[in-house]
Amino acid sequence: MIVTIDGPAGAGKSTVARSLARRLGYSHLDTGAMYRAVALAGLQSKVDWNRPEQLAELATTLDLRVSGERIYLRGEDVTDAVRSQEVTSVTRHAANHPQVRDHLVLLQRAVATEQNMVTEGRDQGTVVFPQAECKIFLTASAEERARRRQRDLQQRGEPETLEQILADQERRDHEDATREVGPLLRAEDAVEVLTDGLTQDQVVDRLEELVRSRMT
Ligand code: C5P
Repeated sequence: MIVTIDGPAGAGKSTVARSLARRLGYSHLDTGAMYRAVALAGLQSKVDWNRPEQLAELATTLDLRVSGERIYLRGEDVTDAVRSQEVTSVTRHAANHPQVRDHLVLLQRAVATEQNMVTEGRDQGTVVFPQAECKIFLTASAEERARRRQRDLQQRGEPETLEQILADQERRDHEDATREVGPLLRAEDAVEVLTDGLTQDQVVDRLEELVRSRMT
């Protein structure tokens, strides 16, 4: 079974998807990390961000591999490196490029072949796995999402003010929603789960119940 979890930045998708996958004995795919890894490759190769074709060419020939919870770029484990602020600030160049998206969509479908999987991103239930048996749209209020991001950044030793995070988040939400290819949309058949005021365990309980109800 394929379970898709889509939603805006900071809704808690990664933590919840990982925990849900573990409970179900499914594999977990973090597609945001793939866009981030392409952006990191762009930084490493010093592509000119004003010439999107450079990033597209790089992306389509890149040695990018996903193995369990880890992501490898040219053989190097970049799972932690892709979460830096520097990478976050340029990931839109990868996410907005139709050719990069087409390429990553193919990689994502290839990972899903013949395995049960919880996959998370922005377009998993709409574009990548429209036939998925269970689709979830996970969201939270802007303030709640920004507070979570602030906590994450603090833990990484990259503190930011809430105002700055809210401003960045608003820009990313807008870009996600208005992108011409693979925009953030709730699939018509997705169940929306608002996580404000819920603990992580409560969210995972709810999702697990939902997935199990679709198994019968
Ligand atoms: O979820 P995360 O913040 O790691 O995603 C990084 C960026 O990749 C997001 O800002 C989003 O624009 C993009 N993304 C995407 N499609 C996906 C997953 C992430 O465009 N399936």
